[in-house]
Amino acid sequence: MQKITAQAHSNIALVKYWGKKDAGLRLPRNSSVAIALDEAYTLTTVEFDEKYLEDDVELIGEGFEEDEKDKVKKHLDRVRAMAGITTKAKVVSQNNFPKSAGMASSASGFAALSMAAVESAGLKLSEREMSVLARNGSGSASRSIPGEVSVWYTAETDEESYAERISFPDNWKVKVLLVMAEDTSAKKISTTDGMAMAPTSPYFVHAVKEAELNIERLKEAMSLGDWSAFGKVIEDECYRLHTICMTQTPNILYWRGVTIEVFQGLYRLREQGLEAFFTVDAGPHVHIITKDEDVAKVKAELAKINGIKKVIECGVGPSAHLVDNHLF
Ligand code: PMV
Repeated sequence: MQKITAQAHSNIALVKYWGKKDAGLRLPRNSSVAIALDEAYTLTTVEFDEKYLEDDVELIGEGFEEDEKDKVKKHLDRVRAMAGITTKAKVVSQNNFPKSAGMASSASGFAALSMAAVESAGLKLSEREMSVLARNGSGSASRSIPGEVSVWYTAETDEESYAERISFPDNWKVKVLLVMAEDTSAKKISTTDGMAMAPTSPYFVHAVKEAELNIERLKEAMSLGDWSAFGKVIEDECYRLHTICMTQTPNILYWRGVTIEVFQGLYRLREQGLEAFFTVDAGPHVHIITKDEDVAKVKAELAKINGIKKVIECGVGPSAHLVDNHLF
């Protein structure tokens, strides 16, 4: 069996996923929409071969925790079951961004692992089938298979819950600025553990319906090329996710002072006529959705704020794909 390397890009949700209808299959309560990030990706090399007596799994640099290794091996089991093989594999993975950067390494990680493992096992899957497989490793990974701007559908069955690209106005020249907070003092709560408690929020049932409406609003804004309406949905979605988090039991407050300082910086710019928008996932870091032409002004505003460790500038990332630079 061949040695195969895949590259998959991280993504940031514009309409958020928080809560599952089937935890085992990772079927989400609502559909979601995300944008892939060109500067944040994972490379993963997989080789299934009889010479390996056990699965050998490594993350270059930071290393995997034991539970992360187990998740990777479980994912290899899914691929082995599909291919009807029992062969063990060597897996070496590398992120071009730190895990602590607040970008979903599980999204790019499970997308790259799925693609490399499938090809190494000699399977041929459609993009949709690959997205379904990636979803089983990590929900947000389903969206890193199609990349660009994609919608991941909620569904009742495994094979119907996948992500696909949707059209996006090219002339917007979108940039995503990842604003890394220095303060990461919040106790790390995994997204799996966090969203398991989402139904305890008194607002959850309503919030799930709201997400579906927000996908329609977002698609309409994109089809009309209405940047202001697009940004309003993004920020509504940020507040929707964090309203659930803050009101579930136990309550989760992912934001830090700097998170709100960045929101306020963007509100100040808006008063001056510059429209850049914020969104935040399960951590204190802010992702700013802006246009290429406004990046310098947004960065100048950020420079006035204390507590920012780093700003990483990304464009829209591609779909997961095979590359030749093997990691072993
Ligand atoms: O699939 P996970 O475990 O990476 O969860 C993603 C959860 C959020 O990032 C908070 C929202 C989302 O839709 O990506």
